[in-house]
Amino acid sequence: MTQFSFSLAARSGKARTGTISTPRGQIRTPAFMPVGTAATVKGMMPESVAETGADILLGNTYHLMLRPGAERIDRLGGLHHFMNWEKPILTDSGGFQVMSLAGLRKLTEDGVTFKSHIDGSRHELTPERSMEIQRLLGSDIVMAFDECPALPAPKERIAASMQLSMRWAARSREAFGDRPGHALFGIQQGGLEPDLREESAKALTDIGFEGYAIGGLAVGEGQEAMFGCLDTAPDMLPEDKPRYLMGVGKPDDIVGAVKRGVDMMDCVLPSRSGRTGQAWTRRGQVNLKNARHQDDPRPLEEGCSCPACRNYSRAYLHHVFRSNEMISGMLLTWHNLHYYQLLMSEMRAAIADDTFAAFEEKFHATRALGDI
Ligand code: GUN
Ligand code: ZN
Repeated sequence: MTQFSFSLAARSGKARTGTISTPRGQIRTPAFMPVGTAATVKGMMPESVAETGADILLGNTYHLMLRPGAERIDRLGGLHHFMNWEKPILTDSGGFQVMSLAGLRKLTEDGVTFKSHIDGSRHELTPERSMEIQRLLGSDIVMAFDECPALPAPKERIAASMQLSMRWAARSREAFGDRPGHALFGIQQGGLEPDLREESAKALTDIGFEGYAIGGLAVGEGQEAMFGCLDTAPDMLPEDKPRYLMGVGKPDDIVGAVKRGVDMMDCVLPSRSGRTGQAWTRRGQVNLKNARHQDDPRPLEEGCSCPACRNYSRAYLHHVFRSNEMISGMLLTWHNLHYYQLLMSEMRAAIADDTFAAFEEKFHATRALGDI
């Protein structure tokens, strides 16, 4: 059986390209993972998500434990079978979502108790229960259980939270056990403080993980501060393991993160903004709500091979958005995910050719033109 492994093929500056191998298939890096929180990438059939070029999806412990329940998904054959996605799945561990979504939370050394945002029922998550849920789901890449404060926060609060997450990381490693073909990733915390990031990286590498995530970013600090952190954070993590920046981001965030040595990312943005009439193109953001599109026979993006651009006009996309038709979110989500995956494949090619700097310059110059 194929074990979990990562091999780097090329570098351009600090940017890296390579392949993660799993028993469920290969993940080309840098990789963008569409978010399938509730066992679906909203508005997309799984075959269509695969057609956009995605090698891996993200699922959520928090949402799936509440509905339909991890034990139920296990009885029904696991998350891959349940949602008809046979390629790799990474699951987030739940702590971060509890802190942002759940009601009435109580954090202790053991874990976190909270009220469901769906029906107010009480639940508990600990590192051990998070590992169990992610095993029941059948996740290929399991995330350690962590928590982090919203920024800005006092340094003592960020330090205490990071140290708690590092104790939880050790418990996650222990509870994960020996599972050939499955990987456990640790999550670095420490806010925007380089010394805390160093302390966290050291704690994680002492425990030892199959990959390392950078957590606690994109929580309100802004792009400049995030890039400032990413100027050093990835270098603190082992070179020969995948590095995953959690919850990022806009296309320019992604390009900046890859430039700084990040290998994997996930974000709800392309799918969520597709449902609010927002499209992402080479030339920046386009709002299909805007009346300027109502008589426009041109495609959303000239040259794009996605179904929204091949078969429909801006006037149509505007009309179906204004009419609240389901196809609006479907077409824009498809386009957005297609654009994100195209961006990733262009970056992988530029890194392989060692022309990432030229790629980045062209990326920004094209965006500076603005929409057609
Ligand atoms: N998603 C975005 N940021 C984070 C983080 O810091 N931890 C976890 N578990 N998930 C995230
Ligand atoms: Zn398109």
